[in-house]
Amino acid sequence: MKWFYSFSAVVFIALSACTTSTTSTSSADEKIDSLMALMTLEEKIGQLNLPSAGQFTTGEAESSDIAKKIEQGLVGGLFNIKSVPAIREMQSIAVEKSRLKIPLLFAMDVIHGYESVFPIPLGLSCTWDMELIEKTARMAAQEASADGINLTFSPMVDLSRDARWGRISEGSGEDPFLGSEIARAMVRGYQGDDLTANNTIMSCVKHYALYGASEAGLDYNTVDMSRNRMYNEYFPPYKAAVDAGAGSIMASFNEIDGIPATANKWLLTDVLRTQWGFKGFVVSDYTGVSEMVDHGYGNIQEVSAKALAAGLDMDMVSEGLLNTLAQSLKEGKITEQQINAACRRILEAKFKLGLFDDPYRYCDENRAKNEIFTAENRAFARKVASESFVLLKNQNNLLPLKRTGTIALVGPLADASNQMSGTWSVAARHNESISLLKGLQNAVGNQAKVIYAKGSNLDADSIFEAKATLFGKTLHRDPRPADVIREEAVRIARNADVIVAAVGESAEMSGESSSRTDIGIPETQRDLLKALLKTGKPVVLVLFTGRPLTIKWESENFPAILNVWFGGSEAGDAIADVLFGDVNPSGKLSTTFPQHVGQVPIYYAHKNTGRPLGEGKWFSKFRTNYLDVSNDPVYPFGYGLSYTTFSYSDPKLDKASITLDESITVSVEITNTGNRDGAEVVQLYIRDLVGSVTRPVKELKAFRKITLKAGEKQTVSFTLSKNDLSFYNSDLNFVAEPGDFEVFVGGDSQNVKKTTFTLK
Ligand code: NOJ
Repeated sequence: MKWFYSFSAVVFIALSACTTSTTSTSSADEKIDSLMALMTLEEKIGQLNLPSAGQFTTGEAESSDIAKKIEQGLVGGLFNIKSVPAIREMQSIAVEKSRLKIPLLFAMDVIHGYESVFPIPLGLSCTWDMELIEKTARMAAQEASADGINLTFSPMVDLSRDARWGRISEGSGEDPFLGSEIARAMVRGYQGDDLTANNTIMSCVKHYALYGASEAGLDYNTVDMSRNRMYNEYFPPYKAAVDAGAGSIMASFNEIDGIPATANKWLLTDVLRTQWGFKGFVVSDYTGVSEMVDHGYGNIQEVSAKALAAGLDMDMVSEGLLNTLAQSLKEGKITEQQINAACRRILEAKFKLGLFDDPYRYCDENRAKNEIFTAENRAFARKVASESFVLLKNQNNLLPLKRTGTIALVGPLADASNQMSGTWSVAARHNESISLLKGLQNAVGNQAKVIYAKGSNLDADSIFEAKATLFGKTLHRDPRPADVIREEAVRIARNADVIVAAVGESAEMSGESSSRTDIGIPETQRDLLKALLKTGKPVVLVLFTGRPLTIKWESENFPAILNVWFGGSEAGDAIADVLFGDVNPSGKLSTTFPQHVGQVPIYYAHKNTGRPLGEGKWFSKFRTNYLDVSNDPVYPFGYGLSYTTFSYSDPKLDKASITLDESITVSVEITNTGNRDGAEVVQLYIRDLVGSVTRPVKELKAFRKITLKAGEKQTVSFTLSKNDLSFYNSDLNFVAEPGDFEVFVGGDSQNVKKTTFTLK
């Protein structure tokens, strides 16, 4: 029986013919019109309200303050609530007790998997595998929707070039092209082809906009940026997500041009709706509306009115819209049309999700039992994790390890199951994730001996460690003096054939509100590393991190470094897969690793100055350089080793020049020159030598991940056309300008081969 049969007769007539999957836009519009005709002003404003539910024990929800508001029609959706019984209970209040019985949206931060957790997004981006990434979002949607969720606050597509900013871990790194590809893949994965299907969920792309460019890498801080840079570098991933059909978008916390994004009309209406044609709804970030009071943008009534007028549709948590819009309307500060437009967009989202057809569409207990954290999903998460790791160094082929002898595993991240899923993994079963210790033991069985000691705490400072191990993700701090803890590890390491050192950051050392000024491995862990080196045993550094770290000293002193980010629920098994060579690593960095924090922001696609240093040089007076470190990164964008090697032929073009209507094909032959099968990400960059607006020294324009058997060759061809050669000029028109272009092809942004062509 359709839920709306219990409606009053008028509502029933208004909506009864509504079957969303077959509903054309115009009939959905008519139905929304009829529904809105029945709504009071208060009920319309109620749709704009998105409170955080918190988790209720069954039975508690009914008497909560939230339940009362739902009953009064003052809530449009809820988030931070999980499980079919809890969600069903809340939905039933909306559709059985409220006057108009309008169903609720149920949102959650499903960021990199649900209970089967994939690597943190920065790690995921290092797979450079769009099919794989899309599938992670698909599986996350499958699991989340099986648990009652119909809207995710993902993907986070904020480009960032500042490793101090903790939330760099939640995005896809520094590059607009790679970031845009990933944004599209994620939206496709979550939403699928049919948003009304019970296993797809709506995507809310965030944080619009420029959140990753906060001053000093300080979270929530001011952003001030030229429009030209916005359009060419920071906007493309948001636009890509919008073009891919993301149903909603989240305004960011930061201000832009002195106006908080949450009430920035230029951003939320002129760019988003008028220029990009976005049709979904805009939600604020958590208390983003009320925070504008602290920004100095007015009192709560003023900021709420400004936000609505700017194009904000939904207010997460602040209840500024809920409590003040009626008054602002009376005072003529906003119009009824503005309220209607916002309300309509929320109702449209509910239509698109099929909630008017069946509000319990996502509340199937059987699915919840059978589709979450399954063996199949976990096996996929393990595969994805193993492909996200980046092999940074492997001197004398120390890796892969053999399954023989004694392996000493040391370090604060070695036996730390609850850290593996990384930041923003709210649905994860933290204590069921596979630690590295467990992964190594699983991998060697009786063939080798794994001995373990912690070796050091995360940080010498217990207060710092407490801040970095929140949300129940304790590292069980060892109260003994650092040298005692270290000596214990050194003792066991002396008896081993090889040492695996699991060091770096804890899960909560990156993510929201986790900015750092020192982006190195904490000193007490480095003391452990120094002591391990002194044993003379080979040391493999397994680096856990949510951001690029300054690891110059480590890169100079350790024979092998495997960067494993936070690999998700199956991290330990996946790391073992790579350490023992069952999987040949193929991850490539999506973010530059600086030598020193003072180089930040450092990124490959920088502009030339009028005084470039010149290749191969370190310092030259009156050129662009530092006195104390070279301009080089430790590891550049696109970089990552394999257990095999690849060689590249010189790239060949099919023409020497093209016109604006023609395209040009670049071909390169890649050979697997080692003795193992492996995957390589072939990367193509261009440089537009002269522009009416100066162009970066390199820009990624295409890539392909290929798999080659040992000794195998493959020709890879890329086609470039006008769109690939265009950029936003000073009038913000997207144009390709005639002139000479350089084309670079290679396995990372530095190690490339070059050719040139002319655009006539
Ligand atoms: C604040 C975060 O900035 C945002 O990414 C998240 O989606 C919301 N909180 C909701 O949890």
